[in-house]
Amino acid sequence: MTAKNPPAGYILVEGYPSVEDYLHLRKSCLSPKNVQQAGAALKGSWYGAYVAEETAPTKAIAMGRLVGDGGWYFVLADMMTLPEHQRKGLGDVILKKLLARVKSHAAEGKAHVLLSADPPGVKLYQNNGFRIMGPQETGMGLFIDVEQE
Ligand SMILES: CC(C)(COP(=O)(O)OP(=O)(O)OC[C@H]1O[C@@H](n2cnc3c(N)ncnc32)[C@H](O)[C@@H]1OP(=O)(O)O)[C@@H](O)C(=O)NCCC(=O)NCCS
Repeated sequence: MTAKNPPAGYILVEGYPSVEDYLHLRKSCLSPKNVQQAGAALKGSWYGAYVAEETAPTKAIAMGRLVGDGGWYFVLADMMTLPEHQRKGLGDVILKKLLARVKSHAAEGKAHVLLSADPPGVKLYQNNGFRIMGPQETGMGLFIDVEQE
């Protein structure tokens, strides 16, 4: 849970990517989101970090964010690295930064960080202390279709 520096040529930035970069990351790495979803997601998060190339310091090429109450309950979301920058340790740098923030800023006591892991992320998370829930607890999720009136 100690933050570490990114590899040469990259910088680690506290905060969130632009809406444009976020939408590009989503489309390239996970399911696409719309502008309204992106704005709310970035504005409503507790903490985030992204990685950029030194030559383009405001253009996010990898990111992660935490949604949470700031006390003890957090959800890890949007761990994404553009395909051409994957397997260089950037996801690990971002994850360690996010977890270090919980350690330094959450309320005293035991903090709980949850996530829903896609296959590429499993080892990354396990290497950083996450365990698959069970047998007592079962992770559950619900997708709700939202339509604007
Ligand atoms: C998951 C993801 C964020 C990892 O980002 P990354 O910058 O490539 O991660 P790192 O280079 O720090 O990898 C750290 C470790 O995670 C594991 N890992 C990363 N990508 C992996 C993959 N595609 N398959 C298997 N293990 C993987 C490896 O153990 C890796 O260490 P190693 O390269 O020394 O073997 C990236 O692959 C991604 O954006 N994937 C598509 C979106 C996604 O599935 N996000 C996770 C949602 S839960």
